[in-house]
Amino acid sequence: MTHQKLYEGKAKILYSTKTENILLSVFKDDATAFNAQKRGTIPGKGAMNCTIASHLFRQLETAGIPTHFIEQVSDAEMQVKAVTIIPLEVVIRNVAAGSLCKQTGLELGTLISPPLVEFYYKNDELGDPLLTRDRLLLMKLATPEQVDQLAAMALKINDILTHFFQECGITLVDFKLEFGLDHQQQVILADEISPDTCRLWNQSETDPSRRVMDKDRFRNNLGEIESAYQLVMQRVLAHSI
Ligand code: C5P
Repeated sequence: MTHQKLYEGKAKILYSTKTENILLSVFKDDATAFNAQKRGTIPGKGAMNCTIASHLFRQLETAGIPTHFIEQVSDAEMQVKAVTIIPLEVVIRNVAAGSLCKQTGLELGTLISPPLVEFYYKNDELGDPLLTRDRLLLMKLATPEQVDQLAAMALKINDILTHFFQECGITLVDFKLEFGLDHQQQVILADEISPDTCRLWNQSETDPSRRVMDKDRFRNNLGEIESAYQLVMQRVLAHSI
């Protein structure tokens, strides 16, 4: 391979390409949870997540959201624009689940309206802590204008994706976004949107464990992970904005 490995994360590897400002993102089958304390492999996950994320990035671009996506070049490989990642995980919640329930006592499934936007510090050593706006500014992780822009973009993306998944018969419970600055210092959507980074509930299932179509199947040992991801991929690919 003529490409040079620039960065290896838990779910993807980034390589340089011959073209300046264009990178190759290779999606892996490796799965981690609970800050990498739980590790495993989900056969076919890399290709499914790359395909799902590519389709979702295309929908978002169509709806006017700037993203790092250029094109899907093979099953598990995506060409992307080079960005400087803003070290924040922006989480949007429409329904209470996961850490929100654990930390607040809110009951699983409680509707959240208007949606909640949260910022977490992307830092494995510190365990990705939840930040306040003041802490985020204190740490100079973004400017006040950027924080407002990130929250506004996150809410607009949530609006687009909530409607999109609704058409697929899937409830978008919550999800995580990452943003970066491109070579013109513009904030654009980066990383991936996939069943690894979203909670997705199948609206045709009522049973709380059967409805789960995302990485919670891996986190909570629910089994049938590949078939759940496959079903998400089928439904996503069958719909367009
Ligand atoms: O764990 P928590 O409930 O805070 O996660 C909220 C959402 O963000 C979930 O959809 C989860 O998959 C996603 N997430 C992620 N990567 C992280 C933390 C959370 O994709 N490091």
